[in-house]
Amino acid sequence: MSNGVKQRLAVSLVFCCTALFFGLSQANADKYEHLTQTPPLGWNSWNHFGCDVDEKLIRATADAMVKSGMKKAGYEYVNIDDCWHGERDANGNIQADPKRFPSGIKALADYVHKKGLKLGIYSDAGWTTCAGKPGSRGYEFQDAKTYAEWGVDYLKYDWCATEGLKAEGAYMTIAKALKQTGRPIVLSICEWGDNDPWDWAPPLGQLWRTTGDIYACFDCEYDHGTWSSWGVLQILDMQDGLRKHAGPGRWNDPDMMEVGNGMTTEEDRAHFSMWAMLAAPLIAGNDLRNMSDVTRDILTNKAVIDVDQDKLGIQGFKYSGKKSVKGVDVWFKPLANDEWAMVALNRNKESTKFKFRWRHEEVKDELSSREIDFNSSIYSWQDLWAKSNSGTTRDDLLVTLKPHDVFMVKLKFDKEWKH
Ligand code: GLA
Repeated sequence: MSNGVKQRLAVSLVFCCTALFFGLSQANADKYEHLTQTPPLGWNSWNHFGCDVDEKLIRATADAMVKSGMKKAGYEYVNIDDCWHGERDANGNIQADPKRFPSGIKALADYVHKKGLKLGIYSDAGWTTCAGKPGSRGYEFQDAKTYAEWGVDYLKYDWCATEGLKAEGAYMTIAKALKQTGRPIVLSICEWGDNDPWDWAPPLGQLWRTTGDIYACFDCEYDHGTWSSWGVLQILDMQDGLRKHAGPGRWNDPDMMEVGNGMTTEEDRAHFSMWAMLAAPLIAGNDLRNMSDVTRDILTNKAVIDVDQDKLGIQGFKYSGKKSVKGVDVWFKPLANDEWAMVALNRNKESTKFKFRWRHEEVKDELSSREIDFNSSIYSWQDLWAKSNSGTTRDDLLVTLKPHDVFMVKLKFDKEWKH
């Protein structure tokens, strides 16, 4: 054998082994790696409807998602939360509630798929769901098979009635069960951040809740006796320190949105903007069939959705500037093509004057190794809510923020600063 042939053989062998290794490890991974390369966009029934779900609502919601322009803006998943369940049959197969879902979930999935959308469903790692319906404990593989046969595309998997279970193991079981079906199903891990899911969830699921439940208020704790749900600001503050865990195919989930569920327009806008800065899953939680134009315009603001969906998948961060304004948080999010998003968030209940002297600021992000020195570079900015409003970082920024409102811009490099 000539040296050339030997060399080529060696190269092919290395290539084969590498391909085999990656092929096998991909096949053995407990999730489909290609899903949710950007945060999932969709709708879920829980925040507005609670247990009051049926097939008519889900169909009408899919219709509304198309008609409202949400599908065009990128929304894809129509997710049924708790309470779709009936009993298990004699063979242990889970069935839908025959009164609420007389046509069954398969027919519903077909309907949703025909609209070019995807269907999500909900279960729980414990004996029962949080609303007391049958959980998947002991039926994980059987349930996953049923969901796949129905054509389900997304599973939110909750954590009630799980005494004695270890979260990592329980979610590994359902991840393996889903993988084994051969159908790419997104796994939304929902154990409220109680067991540091960011440390073990990335190989198992595409998203994991980081907190307890959200509540439709901007700044509050809602005490249910043994547990609390949280306002937008409270949930936002709980994301501190988690951004390093997020990225394409693995997202921190600060819970589904409350846009359109009773907060003011400014609060809804701020909530939506901050979820985009967090690269959060954007799962609407309102009644899509009857939403106002204002709500629809917030949910379909393409420029803000683009910030969320930026392909780098880098979660934004709170910036401590040289000079701060009391009650106003400044956030930055590095985007592709050397662009950035920036938000000034007014936590105050009063209108607040916000001044930002760009040229005195230097933004450094160690996680993404990105930085801007506004003293040596000029950026142009475009307001993502008041679309006609734009400017450059050469001039100081002075805006009056309404109570609980945001100022949100996208920054593009313009030129070097000539002093
Ligand atoms: C838990 C979850 C919620 C919702 C309910 C349903 O509280 O965190 O998002 O799914 O259960 O019962």
